[in-house]
Amino acid sequence: MSRRFSTRPRFQHHENRRILSFASGSAQSHLHAMSQRTPYVAANWKMHKTIEETERFLADLLQRRWSRTRARDVGSEDSAASLLPRVGAKEGVEVVVCPPYPSLKTAVELCAQSRVRVAAQNMHEEESGAFTGEVSAPMLLELGVDAVVLGHSERRTHFCETDEALARKLPAALEAGLEPILCVGETEAERDADATEGVLLRQVTEDLTGVADPNLARVVIAYEPVWAIGTGRTASPEQAREAIELIRRTVAGRSADAAEEIRILYGGSVKPANAVELMAEPGIDGALVGGASLDPGDFSAIVEACG
Ligand code: PGA
Repeated sequence: MSRRFSTRPRFQHHENRRILSFASGSAQSHLHAMSQRTPYVAANWKMHKTIEETERFLADLLQRRWSRTRARDVGSEDSAASLLPRVGAKEGVEVVVCPPYPSLKTAVELCAQSRVRVAAQNMHEEESGAFTGEVSAPMLLELGVDAVVLGHSERRTHFCETDEALARKLPAALEAGLEPILCVGETEAERDADATEGVLLRQVTEDLTGVADPNLARVVIAYEPVWAIGTGRTASPEQAREAIELIRRTVAGRSADAAEEIRILYGGSVKPANAVELMAEPGIDGALVGGASLDPGDFSAIVEACG
């Protein structure tokens, strides 16, 4: 992928925030802070975890909420394996869990006293109508959901999600007050054919068409190379950085301010073992985590690496 930026984003950690600076050409000494972006980590559970498993995963067992709701006693082993005691009060990083629809209400209730927020994995762009099997933004809002994953590659591949549909879904989500987490990324064949840049440009440009410039920074973008999702193959930190730089430049083509503010995550086989290295890369503002987010210990470790 070519590097067309004449300026390079640089980051430093400061009070749990990443401060974005741009070096103007070679004038490295004239760095100036332009934006602060809070790191963002989302757990994409896909079609995993029943309501009971969601309760077990999230429950703050010190308060015995889980045992009360299920009228069952639980041991200290479960307590150690639940998420909220580990990251529920963590500051300096936004943590989001994305359960399947049936578990959303339970997740919202259990996360209510914590800093962890809840996202759905998809939504329809219409508020209501004859769309059997679909769920709308107002329905998600009513449940207390804060955000929604849109355009995940599994939806693009298995459920024919198109850029045209996404161009309608993104403004619909924002209008309703949901934070969209837009996924983009190239397939292995596209990377091999040197088409990565074109694919990302097309997806970012088309999917954000309906979002007004002042709202662009309310979107979170996840760069997820399809060949790295669920495969155990992770993009190298450099590959992830280059793709994310391209995405940020594309957003900058619409609004320089939004490009500084918008969070761009990496997703694709993120694990505790590679999270620190990936998150050290300039411009990577967090992670969208699939497989490793199913285990509270692994996910907490990734949250730590991002914070
Ligand atoms: P993975 O999934 O971490 O299992 O690769 C990431 C995703 O699909 O969002």
